[in-house]
Amino acid sequence: MIRSRDDADTRVRTRRRLLQAVATGAAALALPGASRSALRSETPDLVIRLVAAPSQVSIRPGPPTQVLRFTGEVLSGRRDAVRPSESYLGPTLELRRGERVRIEFVNRTGESSIVHWHGMIVPARADGHPRFAIPSGQTFIYEFTVRNPAGTYLYHPHPDGRTGRQVYLGLAGLLIVRDDEERAVGLPDPSYQLSLVIQDRRIDEDNALRFSPTMMDAMSGVLGDTVLTNGVADAAFSVAPRTYRLRVANVSNARIYKLAWSDGGPLRAIASDSGLFDREQGMQTRPYVVLAPFQRVELLEDFAGRANAGRLSLISESFADPGGMMGMMGGGMMGGGMMGRRQGERLQIARFTIAGRSSMSSEPLTLPRAERSTPRGGRELQTRLEFRRMLGLLNGRTFAMDAVAPDEVLPLDQESRWAFVNETGGMAMPHPMHIHGVRFRILGRRGDAPTDLRDGLIDAGYHDTVLVFPGERVWVGVAPTEPGMFMYHCHNLEHEDGGMMRNCWFGARHAG
Ligand code: C2O
Ligand code: CU
Ligand code: CU
Repeated sequence: MIRSRDDADTRVRTRRRLLQAVATGAAALALPGASRSALRSETPDLVIRLVAAPSQVSIRPGPPTQVLRFTGEVLSGRRDAVRPSESYLGPTLELRRGERVRIEFVNRTGESSIVHWHGMIVPARADGHPRFAIPSGQTFIYEFTVRNPAGTYLYHPHPDGRTGRQVYLGLAGLLIVRDDEERAVGLPDPSYQLSLVIQDRRIDEDNALRFSPTMMDAMSGVLGDTVLTNGVADAAFSVAPRTYRLRVANVSNARIYKLAWSDGGPLRAIASDSGLFDREQGMQTRPYVVLAPFQRVELLEDFAGRANAGRLSLISESFADPGGMMGMMGGGMMGGGMMGRRQGERLQIARFTIAGRSSMSSEPLTLPRAERSTPRGGRELQTRLEFRRMLGLLNGRTFAMDAVAPDEVLPLDQESRWAFVNETGGMAMPHPMHIHGVRFRILGRRGDAPTDLRDGLIDAGYHDTVLVFPGERVWVGVAPTEPGMFMYHCHNLEHEDGGMMRNCWFGARHAG
């Protein structure tokens, strides 16, 4: 059935193409071979339908919880490209590098929305900019070729001013890219890979999720009192005593995690936001790993021979809140209830029960060769991060749907140096800064990362989100490849929705 619809589709498109070719007198008609392959390249390898709609799920014992939820299905192509989730989270999309993908997003949320593929390098038209938001009842078609290397990416809604609410109520999912290069690395095979999506929520006694940010929340971002991992409270996994690949994503509105093992063992990172580290960078071993909203890290962890007789937990260690205000008000009164747990409180993320026989140790790891870096010679940009009178500002400005300032234009195919400066006045706040449509290098930091967090920063590799602490200046190297309008913003979702977001333009800027 699907096949015949495909064929019909191709026929319609063929006729349209031919008519176009006739109309323009294109030489393609004289080259049947060439024109056939041009046609073939228009047919996607994979067609997915993704629907966002109200739903109800069980988050913890007791009454079900009303959520918004993505569900998905493969309309044509690989059946294993959509892996349904058992919680409110969206299905995990598994794409392959080089694949041509069409995704039909159907909005049935009852409000305006649009989906953004966080970390993915896609054409501007497919990036999910808020100007493409569609009303409930409509469909938006995305078409792109998967350019990113193997890695752990995300998708989530991106309507102006409503992103925090829609993500909080359940709309988000993992997007995993696989490629051939990754297969040669010697990573554990798929049955020994686990994904952990970490979120925090305030859940009422009747198990309801309510999103009604207070003034305090607008400043610090919404913090929950319950950690949900893969959509459930008190998540537990049973693992074999061997090496696993763990993909960890922070999909919380505002919470920063200081990830650590309960037995004090180090964390061994093999990938950042945007793919594996290269051979020179090697595995990054840290006593703990700091993960800001929407950052990802991939770990290679051996569950064999751990202390504590078969039990291990991933926790978030306590740290001093790097945001000025919560410190000022004192942690005590924020300690629970309505306000959620304060930023920096110790939290349990996931429990692991290690059982079964130890299988042979894993293959030696051969990380990929370093990529050829893009030539420098782009622009030098600087963006001041400020938080004043409840508003996050980027060089003194807030979001405007179509505005691009001269200091927000980057050339294509050259590396520009972009500084995020969180040194100026206003309220001291950490800001996880994110840029759409690119993967960037972190070139350097200057200033004061807090002493109880800085050993957990991983600046190696490619990123799409970087945490900039109060008093800090961070330089990133950005080499866009897709032309047009993208955006950059603080990924604390309450800051983003409050307007700490701007457009940026890649390539020559057209008038108008
Ligand atoms: Cu994760 Cu502008 O988005
Ligand atoms: Cu993004
Ligand atoms: Cu911010």
